[in-house]
Amino acid sequence: MIETDVIIIGAGASGLMCAIEAGKRGRKVLVLDHANKAGKKILMSGGGRCNFTNYSIEPSNYISSNPHFCKSALSRYTQWDFLALIGQYRIPFHERDHGQLFCNESARDILDMLLAECDKADVVVQLNTRIDSVERPADRFHLKTSKGNFSCRSLVVATGGLSIPKMGATPLGYKIAGKFGINVLPTGAGLVPFTLQPEDKEKFSALSGIAVPSAVSNKRQSFSGNVLFTHRGLSGPAILQISSYWRAGEEISINLLPQVNLDAELKAKRQQKIKNKLKTILEGYLPKRLISAFLDENLLDLSIQDVSDKQIMQVASQLNNWTIKPNGTEGYRTAEVTVGGIDCDAVSSKTMESKQVPGLYFIGEVLDVTGWLGGYNFQWAWSSAWCAGQYC
Ligand code: FDA
Repeated sequence: MIETDVIIIGAGASGLMCAIEAGKRGRKVLVLDHANKAGKKILMSGGGRCNFTNYSIEPSNYISSNPHFCKSALSRYTQWDFLALIGQYRIPFHERDHGQLFCNESARDILDMLLAECDKADVVVQLNTRIDSVERPADRFHLKTSKGNFSCRSLVVATGGLSIPKMGATPLGYKIAGKFGINVLPTGAGLVPFTLQPEDKEKFSALSGIAVPSAVSNKRQSFSGNVLFTHRGLSGPAILQISSYWRAGEEISINLLPQVNLDAELKAKRQQKIKNKLKTILEGYLPKRLISAFLDENLLDLSIQDVSDKQIMQVASQLNNWTIKPNGTEGYRTAEVTVGGIDCDAVSSKTMESKQVPGLYFIGEVLDVTGWLGGYNFQWAWSSAWCAGQYC
């Protein structure tokens, strides 16, 4: 049995950050991961450029059954703290829409920085290690693994969520919680494209590749951003955002022209005695293919002068308030995150330690804290991991 102070399961964003902080405190830290590489999701994130944080981080950017839980960690280790670390390594970055911060060159810069910090803090990262069992016979944890048996005083679960099983996602974190009687809330795919009902899929498949700046909402939330038609359904930032708030069977509403009150605009055109066809006017706002998929050709061929109030209302309702009931989502296969997870009420928001099992910590995405698209999930990983790293 090899003894150490802290074992962290998961060499992803949160696991590495926690290891650095605990290592800096002089704790002997071992990070175990079953994957053949550390930080695989960091490397694939942000299209290879890692959207590592956001200039504006607020608790309202997170979904959780306990919306207060994330506040303490986010205020103790902020986006500015992470930017200071990036600054020490002179990693070049840039801002995109809505304060999103990306590496200029490669997500590898972030991973290399974390691994260099691990090295400085004498952290051992052991990959290709399968965890077979976790027990707590007395006040230490005993782990049986494919690379031998280990014992530690503090065990940190940083196994992430269920998204992208091909990248090594597993439910181990939830299983460990279950074993120790810690509540796990139902999980689901978040930040994920929608699939469509067969008839909608057929109708809109011709639009594959078209992206339209839109406002997407359900009864609880709304987001602005592009909606992308794909050969499977709907994607794009606004769709990914609303998907985290979506419940099966629910309709969503999409305003494909959020800047234009189409009812008023078309009536004004008619008033101006313009003779253009409805089609020509609408093509000034939206791609041709999209208009044809949404509206009847006979109607589109009418001169605006011949379009009735009722027809204008129908056109406006189709494009300003398109309601659609997705068939489902693409699921964990393509989801960026997992909604739900370890019940935050079972964990201290200051230390991330289980309230029931001393020495057992949960950090990052395995917890029931899910960020919006835009660097919020990595910031949660950094913040929650930093907190646990001060105590484990
Ligand atoms: P993370 O998933 O990073 O790490 C978990 C680790 O645990 C992995 O190394 C895994 O191998 C290991 N593990 C799992 N099961 C195990 C087992 N049974 N035994 C041993 N080890 C095990 N977020 C963001 O803010 N900005 C972005 O740009 C993106 N982009 C993005 C793109 C894509 C394609 C995805 C899938 C996700 C994103 N995200 C994102 C989300 C972000 O990647 C995610 O929220 C964080 O990586 C979560 O960090 P964790 O440390 O919690 O888990």
